[in-house]
Amino acid sequence: MLNIENLHAHYHTDEGTDVHAVDGVDLEVGSNETLGLVGESGCGKTTLAKALIRLLPTNGEIVDGSVNFKETDLTELSDEELRKQIRWTEISMIPQNAMNSLDPVHTVGAQIVQAIRTHEDCSKEEAWNRTRELFEELGLDENRVKDYPHQFSGGMAQRAAIALALCLEPALILADEPTTALDVVVQDQILTMVSELQDEIDSSMIMITHDMSVVSETCDKIAVMYGGNVAEYADSETIIKNPRHPYTLGMRNAFPDISKDTQELISIPGSPPDLIEPEEGCKFAPRCPFAQDECREVTPEPEEFEEGHVVRCHRADEVEYLQEEASKRETWAEMKDDQGDLISATDGGTDE
Ligand SMILES: Nc1ncnc2c1ncn2[C@@H]1O[C@H](COP(=O)(O)OP(=O)(O)OP(=O)(O)O)[C@@H](O)[C@H]1O
Ligand SMILES: [Mg+2]
Repeated sequence: MLNIENLHAHYHTDEGTDVHAVDGVDLEVGSNETLGLVGESGCGKTTLAKALIRLLPTNGEIVDGSVNFKETDLTELSDEELRKQIRWTEISMIPQNAMNSLDPVHTVGAQIVQAIRTHEDCSKEEAWNRTRELFEELGLDENRVKDYPHQFSGGMAQRAAIALALCLEPALILADEPTTALDVVVQDQILTMVSELQDEIDSSMIMITHDMSVVSETCDKIAVMYGGNVAEYADSETIIKNPRHPYTLGMRNAFPDISKDTQELISIPGSPPDLIEPEEGCKFAPRCPFAQDECREVTPEPEEFEEGHVVRCHRADEVEYLQEEASKRETWAEMKDDQGDLISATDGGTDE
């Protein structure tokens, strides 16, 4: 259904440099499939999602690659074609900050009704009925359809943004950290509801999150992003139980509940790269306990191991050694930076 090839998206800065936020991404999403997109803050998750539906801010640009959706390359469509044929009806986005996606001057219900009636031949009454039904399905009191966004709590606004994204039953939902701002109990409720609704309307989904435990529960496939690239991509079970990329191995250490091999929480020392005009070499090399000269000099290409398991790492074939060493605290504790100073495991880290 969705096939992304070699996608590059940059932000132009006032200094005249480019931030390579998406730096050669290949990904696929099948029908009714949920793909989890995980990685630290700033690795390019939101940029990737926005690039797909061409909602990048004005200084952002797709500079290379293609986004094939049901046999149409979305990068080739005009803005008008995209707006009329694709956005909301075929692909919709639940944004990272729900409150910002709701229009403060219209009631929440009116916004959903308008979305439905702009794209479908549907009476006012029917559109309001559908809106009330959606409210109920998402655990919102249907009597609050006539409230304005500022009358909603954060959790309610998030549910309303989900209603808006799902009201036209799109084929693909891009959910950008739909619940990170909320407390854990509400998070769970909302994720469950989104999954149920997704099943009901037969959609595919890209679920973006920092949280490995969220994707391991909800997703069929997982793509681990690092520095604008997909470091590793496979079905969820493989990513959780049998990862090959040192970054995935490090992430897994930081979420002990999904990793039976590790008892203690170990975080990855150092901080993510800034992505401004990156040099040759693996972007993870400065933080990787397994980096060798080749890693610092030659950018690794994606390589497929078992079917559907793609890894961007020069040493991915040494899987047993990597898995064994990565589970030891001292492997990550003794990492040094370019000056030979010890990188502290507490600065940066994987919790963001
Ligand atoms: N409008 C912009 N102009 C310039 N650089 C930007 C802009 N938006 C994002 N960036 C940069 O692009 C990179 C990727 O950002 P992006 O928001 O896609 O990351 P993310 O993975 O979604 O992070 P988070 O988990 O914090 O949401 C970062 O280095 C960020 O600083
Ligand atoms: Mg983001």
